[in-house]
Amino acid sequence: MGLRTPVFAANWKMNKTLKEASLFFETFLNLLPTKLDAEIIVCPSFTLFHSISSCSSQKIKLGAQNIFWEKEGAYTGEISPVMLKDSGCQYVIIGHSERRKYFAETNAIVNKKILAAFEYGLKPILCIGETLEEMEKGITRQILAEQIKEGLFRTAQSDFEKLIMAYEPVWAIGTGKADSPQQSNETIRFIRETLSELCGIHTASKIRILYGGSVKPNNIKGFMEQSEIDGALVGGASLNPEDFAKLVLSGDPAKF
Ligand code: PGA
Repeated sequence: MGLRTPVFAANWKMNKTLKEASLFFETFLNLLPTKLDAEIIVCPSFTLFHSISSCSSQKIKLGAQNIFWEKEGAYTGEISPVMLKDSGCQYVIIGHSERRKYFAETNAIVNKKILAAFEYGLKPILCIGETLEEMEKGITRQILAEQIKEGLFRTAQSDFEKLIMAYEPVWAIGTGKADSPQQSNETIRFIRETLSELCGIHTASKIRILYGGSVKPNNIKGFMEQSEIDGALVGGASLNPEDFAKLVLSGDPAKF
């Protein structure tokens, strides 16, 4: 295994009832080999947290899809970092493009969530990515640099190693049109260079950076073969246990 342990993270978005989640795990866990050189993180809805932390195995880590930045108080409808930690959650997706788009999350809000996650011992999966319009205007790198620098503003040096980044071009999410492995590798190299301005080359070389956006069992290998890509954040293809198991197995770098 290289310097960075690969990660396959499932973003279930607003999907699955209790019954559907337990059926998923019955099949999925049987399809996984006993030893895997990768981390698997499942990020379900909050309603599934309890059942997943009890029914899933050591092989699977629990992640949230969102977080609020205060510890407790009068914030109707929100979930605090302390509550997440308390329910066995270790990771949290922050700044997903759907939250930026439908819930008006700005880089400043993303930053508050990032700092809260670190403060309470959760590892953030920070999502960044350009829209189609931004790509067409040729400002992808400018947008990514802003998302990184503003999203990680005031992050303590010692917290950077706990960070996972996910590069998700917005135009590739849920569209079936994934970025090419070569192109995303170049973009992820740029992301790592930008991170190194914040935390130094040594630490930046340890941060896992995932690709996300229409990752499927039949295209994962191309991404995992790239030098800068350390795994995938998977939406649609993570909902079906056979597909997600196939994706994890085809992407396992130990097999290349
Ligand atoms: P997708 O979603 O795999 O369905 O494109 C990825 C994501 O939104 O994280």
